[in-house]
Amino acid sequence: MKVKFNAGLVVLLASTCFAAKFPAGYTLCKQGDDKCLLDQIGATFTKHSQGIPEMNLVGLDPLKIEKMDIVQGGDGPINIVLNFKNVDLTGLSQSTVKKANGFTANPTKMEMAVLVPVASLVGGYKINGKVLILPIQGEGKSNMTMENCHIQLKWTGKLVEKTGKQFYQLDKLKATFDTTRFHMHFSNLFNGDKALGDNMNQFLNDNWQDILKELKPSIVTAFAQIFQRVVTNVFDKVPYAELYHTSSLLESPASSSSAEPSQETLVEDFFICRSCGHDVSLSNFVLEKYSPLALGSSNQTLSAGREAIVQEVQNTLGIRFKIIVVEKAYCAKVESWSLLHSWFPGFAWKLCVCPKCRTHLGWMFEPLETATSDRYFPTEKGFYALISSNIISEGYVNSLLMREKALRDN
Ligand SMILES: *[C@@H]1O[C@H](CO)[C@@H](O)[C@H](O)[C@H]1NC(C)=O
Ligand SMILES: *[C@@H]1O[C@H](CO)[C@@H](O)[C@H](O)[C@H]1NC(C)=O
Ligand SMILES: [Zn+2]
Repeated sequence: MKVKFNAGLVVLLASTCFAAKFPAGYTLCKQGDDKCLLDQIGATFTKHSQGIPEMNLVGLDPLKIEKMDIVQGGDGPINIVLNFKNVDLTGLSQSTVKKANGFTANPTKMEMAVLVPVASLVGGYKINGKVLILPIQGEGKSNMTMENCHIQLKWTGKLVEKTGKQFYQLDKLKATFDTTRFHMHFSNLFNGDKALGDNMNQFLNDNWQDILKELKPSIVTAFAQIFQRVVTNVFDKVPYAELYHTSSLLESPASSSSAEPSQETLVEDFFICRSCGHDVSLSNFVLEKYSPLALGSSNQTLSAGREAIVQEVQNTLGIRFKIIVVEKAYCAKVESWSLLHSWFPGFAWKLCVCPKCRTHLGWMFEPLETATSDRYFPTEKGFYALISSNIISEGYVNSLLMREKALRDN
């Protein structure tokens, strides 16, 4: 059992960090929790592919590229200047993240591997040069598509302090990729001469392997610059520690030492999932909110002295639950809101299950007006009801550990 709660420890809890800075449904991982990071980076591609303005993350699908140049000079078989203008890279939202390494407390090298089933680059092009002895020239719309594209990104950098906070400063990013098929189509080659254009397109696709081999270094350089900008944007905007779950902040001396007094919050105690130990909420977030349908209520004293109201409610099947109402909690993304038989009139509800082990932890509540299908988690006006028997307070766990230790020491 990890022991990370320290009574009286003052940290930058960042109420902002717990919810506001990130979009609903954005799970923060603990530093070094590779499984969580894989899932979360994957979710960044799949669920947040329209971008996350709060993090300065641009839309990834399509990834809009204003300008990109592939210049292949020298005396090789391919000698071209290929300029792209206003092209869209599509397909990243279907990515699977295969690897994510180096997202640690003191990051230097980081690495990511992504598999994109179909990646297409579509938009305006202008080409001039020579491909395997044939001259090529044209300007129009192009489509370059790769199937089963394995992309590897590796970058180096370090933490630097800016305005009292630690930011990750990216130094160098390297990219490589492999694909099982490369399709190209250039419209309007040779000033629209259809016969010549069709022939050239046919020729390019028949020889895609040779062409890709030649062009790869230039493609890689062009994309490395683009990805570097995307990643740097995020790291420049969000202090490094805030990219992670708050409790990793507790373990990161860098962030606590630089906390500004006005933003300090005393973390009283964590509520953790009884099944797997995942953080669920903080005792700081306990709310005094009564259900008019509760069968009864009592007060429970939490380890830091805070009182929590425990109410007993009953569902339509006659099953009773003891619940604690909190302002914020971590739940996995689940299906739509239900309007039926709510214990809190005026609020729709849905299940709250543990993001890690999927144990049923309780329910989320949201005012009827704002409980829309695209709202995964409650707004500021909503709240959470946690089943008291499915969570435990970590302070309580630690007090047991300490008692045990005291017994052993005697
Ligand atoms: C680009 O080419 C691929 C493969 O040839 C094709 O499946 C896709 O529909 C094309 N995209 C556009 C926008 O034309
Ligand atoms: C529980 O605590 C609340 C707030 O401190 C108080 O108003 C209420 O009377 C208490 N209820 C019981 C049953 O002790
Ligand atoms: Zn769990």
